[in-house]
Amino acid sequence: MAKKKIVALGGDGVGPEVMEVTCHILEKAGYSLDILKPLCGSRAFQAQGNAFPDEAKKLCEESDAILFGAAEGPSVAILVHLRWFMDNYINLRPIKYYPGALSPLKNPEGIDFMLIRENSEGLYPGREGEIPWLAQRIPDYKDPFGRTLDFYGEGKFAIRLITQKGTERIARYAVQLARERKSRGFAGKVTCLTKANVMRQSCGLFRKIVEEEVKKAPGIAYEHFHTDDAARRLIRFPRDFDVIVTTNMFGDILADEAGEAIGGLGISPSACLGGRKPYFEPVHGSAPDIAGKGIVNPTAMILSAKMMLDYLKMEKEAQALEKAVARVYQEGKVLPADQGGKATTREFAEAVLKRI
Ligand code: NAI
Ligand code: MG
Repeated sequence: MAKKKIVALGGDGVGPEVMEVTCHILEKAGYSLDILKPLCGSRAFQAQGNAFPDEAKKLCEESDAILFGAAEGPSVAILVHLRWFMDNYINLRPIKYYPGALSPLKNPEGIDFMLIRENSEGLYPGREGEIPWLAQRIPDYKDPFGRTLDFYGEGKFAIRLITQKGTERIARYAVQLARERKSRGFAGKVTCLTKANVMRQSCGLFRKIVEEEVKKAPGIAYEHFHTDDAARRLIRFPRDFDVIVTTNMFGDILADEAGEAIGGLGISPSACLGGRKPYFEPVHGSAPDIAGKGIVNPTAMILSAKMMLDYLKMEKEAQALEKAVARVYQEGKVLPADQGGKATTREFAEAVLKRI
């Protein structure tokens, strides 16, 4: 089998730290991958005035998959390119508990669901401006209180876009994932989260389309919760979920919350799919409070690489990597600080490698 071509982009903050040890594991484990590591982020910005040079972009276009660390400052340009210009509209975030991980819940055993965040529209990327500017352009618009926008005076607005096409494609993906999981013994249920009680039109459309898509799939169950109610349920009834689908900002926020239920951001991976080239990144950001100290938990990045291996149909390798991570947690001897241990980033990675 020809080696798969992977581009590893560390980004900034803890991004390069988690990326380095993850690539080390993939390389030393002898997986059939050719991992390219072009200069990017603030180091590229300082050297060439561009955090995501054309050369790196070209490598991404030619790759089979991309690994990304974290964005901060200039490296946000990388994220913008991978997410919006490559149109990766699916942000898939597994919420799975590995025994031994430090969850704040009394009983996190058996939590295992998927959170799908629509990644291309909603309130992101901020489409914002001055209220008086907007008031001038749509003088006839009246809000639910019958007020025109000039009533509000100085301030800012943000536009939230929920499109027919954007919702249909994410809804179809949610149904497909629920079907695939059902064939592996999961419940086969799609849970849609919106605030359709308040955002009647935008959330209302999202809810309606998801419901219609699920109806077309016999054997797949459907439920809907308001996002605030769901925030509570994620903590109280985390085992009741199978596949959650929601809009961009709700998914962003709830993924951090759900991630905490299984042990925190140090453990929460993600995949961004559906566009020209997929990329795989931790849910966490650049963690400036611990960057450069060598103590960041690389599990989220390692499990993101596991998702990449699954995507590349390297299931055996993906399983071996996940099993090794699970064993390190189960044994509980070499865990990073966020999991109550004393291991450095590098020590944790070596422990995973040893168990592959
Ligand atoms: P964050 O996710 O970077 O950090 C939140 C907290 O979790 C911090 O206390 C951090 O130390 C801890 N944490 C995160 N990852 C960890 C890990 N692997 N191991 C141990 N502890 C970990 O979120 P925050 O502080 O809101 O944002 C920091 C920067 O990251 C901002 O510039 C933000 O814009 C950016 N960001 C980038 C993202 C991306 O690249 N996809 C996602 C989220 C934030
Ligand atoms: Mg986030």
